[in-house]
Amino acid sequence: MTALIFFRHFVEKLGGKVGMIPINKPTLGREEEENVIQVLRSGILTGRASEGGMVAEFEKIFARFLGVKYAVAVSSGTAALHASLLALGVGLGDEVIVPSFTFSATCNVVLHVGARPVFVDIDLDTYTMDPSEVKKALTPKTKVIIPVHLYGHPVDMKPIMELAAEKDVYVVEDAAQAHGAEYGGVKVGGIGHLGCFSFYPTKIITTGEGGMVTTNDEELAEKVKIIRNQGERGNYATALLGHNWRLTELGAAIGIAQMKKIDGFLAKRRRNAAHLTKLLSNVDELVPPLEKGWAKHAWNIYTVRLRNNEVKRDKAVSLLRKHGVGATIYYPIPVHLTPLYREKGYSKVSLPNTELASKTVFSLPVHPSMTEEDIEKVALAVKETLEALGPSP
Ligand SMILES: Cc1ncc(COP(=O)(O)O)c(C=O)c1O
Repeated sequence: MTALIFFRHFVEKLGGKVGMIPINKPTLGREEEENVIQVLRSGILTGRASEGGMVAEFEKIFARFLGVKYAVAVSSGTAALHASLLALGVGLGDEVIVPSFTFSATCNVVLHVGARPVFVDIDLDTYTMDPSEVKKALTPKTKVIIPVHLYGHPVDMKPIMELAAEKDVYVVEDAAQAHGAEYGGVKVGGIGHLGCFSFYPTKIITTGEGGMVTTNDEELAEKVKIIRNQGERGNYATALLGHNWRLTELGAAIGIAQMKKIDGFLAKRRRNAAHLTKLLSNVDELVPPLEKGWAKHAWNIYTVRLRNNEVKRDKAVSLLRKHGVGATIYYPIPVHLTPLYREKGYSKVSLPNTELASKTVFSLPVHPSMTEEDIEKVALAVKETLEALGPSP
């Protein structure tokens, strides 16, 4: 079938509609508008992380949702990770264990504080850090482990927490994609010493740009609060090396409205993901995403794997995008093989599962604004695309 005939056939089946279904999309409404207007009218747009402000309120709501004692709002997920490492005193000579199959921010913050990222491979069922690989990577220089709850599926945290306790190292959960995900009934971000969240618009909830650090440790919470505000303990009294990582009142205003809807967002993502998995169950070439027995997936990103077929994966993604399905590859290059990390000498690190995943995965939309019909369109598009591309070599 030529591409043109395929396209026509495809558009007919979709009822002639070719609008793009994006991979993720924030769901915003009147509540967000009203909260933002309230901030605009108050004239106080930022800097009020004290009682009575939107930031303080957002922190309280987020801590309650997660079941942790403290939540400290910051300006991004990257800032949350960076502030966490600074609060733990990570620096030159320290090693931090990270997956390479993640967004670069997870690893970049390690370089920013002068420490050395040590990359470990993933488990292919969940695409998250493999605890047995973590065990092998621990050295006397290890100061922190950063498990990333990739796509919204939790890392197997029990063995990681046990190793951390045994070796006296910290655990900073990168939960940027996993608001509301659970491990053994406990929400992620509340298991390690610190948890880090992102509120970028592709995430479960958004504040535009924004992030949150969560913890049950009062001293660490206090340090992160100081670090996000130039390290000041009191007016202009610089006590720690900090940064301007404050969240704005406008961002927090949006976040408060989003938190009222988060359970609904998660339920819709779960429903959409289950529907899509069912519709794709007869496509033998695809490995569907799993949810382990101990896990509750947040379904921030629905990721399938094309069995051992890189060339077809890339073609399938570009064809799907042409035909209105915002299929996306997270992540086509493992961090250790990006130009910056190659330059730093990581190109010879061997991470077979990571490399296989980066060559064969692609993600499909399941965001809460999608209807059942949208999910059916996505499934149909995937089947038609794979069929049009022919059998795997
Ligand atoms: C796994 C992971 N870590 C960290 C971040 C950084 O978050 P932000 O973009 O809010 O700085 C992201 C954002 O995409 C992410 O997906």
